[in-house]
Amino acid sequence: MPINIGILGLGTVGSGVVSILQQNAEDIQTRTQSEIQIKKILVRNPELPRNIQGKFQLTDQANDILQDPEVDIIVEVIGGIEPARSYILEALRQGKHVVTANKDLLALHGQELLDAANTAGKDLYFEASVAGGIPIIAALKHALAANRISALIGIINGTTNYILSAMAEQGRDYFEVLAEAQSLGYAEADPSADVDGLDAARKLSILASIAFNSRVTLKDVFVEGISKITRQDLAYAAELGCTIKLLAIAKHHEESIEVRVHPAILPMNHPLAAVNGVYNAIYVVGDAVGETMFYGRGAGSLPTGSAVVSDIIRVIRNIQANSTSMINCTCYRDLGIKASSE
Ligand code: NDP
Ligand code: HSE
Repeated sequence: MPINIGILGLGTVGSGVVSILQQNAEDIQTRTQSEIQIKKILVRNPELPRNIQGKFQLTDQANDILQDPEVDIIVEVIGGIEPARSYILEALRQGKHVVTANKDLLALHGQELLDAANTAGKDLYFEASVAGGIPIIAALKHALAANRISALIGIINGTTNYILSAMAEQGRDYFEVLAEAQSLGYAEADPSADVDGLDAARKLSILASIAFNSRVTLKDVFVEGISKITRQDLAYAAELGCTIKLLAIAKHHEESIEVRVHPAILPMNHPLAAVNGVYNAIYVVGDAVGETMFYGRGAGSLPTGSAVVSDIIRVIRNIQANSTSMINCTCYRDLGIKASSE
């Protein structure tokens, strides 16, 4: 029996997901021992001409997909809070597994969605919600699970890193480079979320919650964006042998968690100073493993699609094993500590 996928959204990420499922169909079928069919895709306007072709049906009726008994997995890549939240909850109620890239929604309603997934006994995966193609969530949940994580410092917004890198390396104008990042599909629908640091703060709340087994929300995170950084600031930093990056920092202290996003001056020999363009990097310190660093493309159609499709493959493997993986059981242990930006 083929596995049927319903995709909500066919923009930058949705198109990447479809392309990867089509291009790599043979390899994915070998890996999963399943044929994957994209059955239906939700868009606002199904009549618009699209670059992506396939056997799927385009619809503007979400319930056509969410209530289709043949659809096994829903991929939510429309973004925003509503209707995305209601669609995911309905998908879980209908007994479907869900994969999403929606950090805005997870940062605000993550616990509600994870609880709903646990109640339904279905998977809810969200690797693409942080750092595009970098498998940082899987790393924190699985590969580094043996560790007590003490710090996590990263560049986790591709748009702002693209802008700062172009301003520093080529002396280019802020607004011109922002427009380029938008045209490349890196920026959010409302790019102020990128440049004001909110997107990085949302991602940091997701990473810190997982890394520290705690519940860190957006309002816990101190946020300052890059809109006040000028070419002159970058030139002065360069004179000092430094550069400026938008850093997301989470530290686990004895009695508190520190979470902040802001521009920082880094010496050029710092590993994060060499992370340029749309690339992201996350430096993680664990008590057993020591220092680790994750690097890759933090935004864009195919890198983000890579994370979404890998989550789809994990769901299929779980379906085959006839068991829901423990990933939903991000059972936050109440450590009795307070998250703050202090
Ligand atoms: P886009 O704006 O490019 O695409 C959104 C898609 O969703 C469009 O196809 C749009 O339809 C459809 N859509 C939006 N709202 C509705 C609605 N109410 N009903 C039906 N269809 C709707 O967004 P992205 O692909 O860039 O982002 C999607 C998600 O992925 C967001 O949560 C984003 O934060 C996240 N993300 C994005 C990354 C990136 O690099 N772009 C990286 C990591 C995560 P139509 O085509 O008809 O307009
Ligand atoms: N707008 C986001 C960024 C997309 O630039 O990093 C990836 O989450």
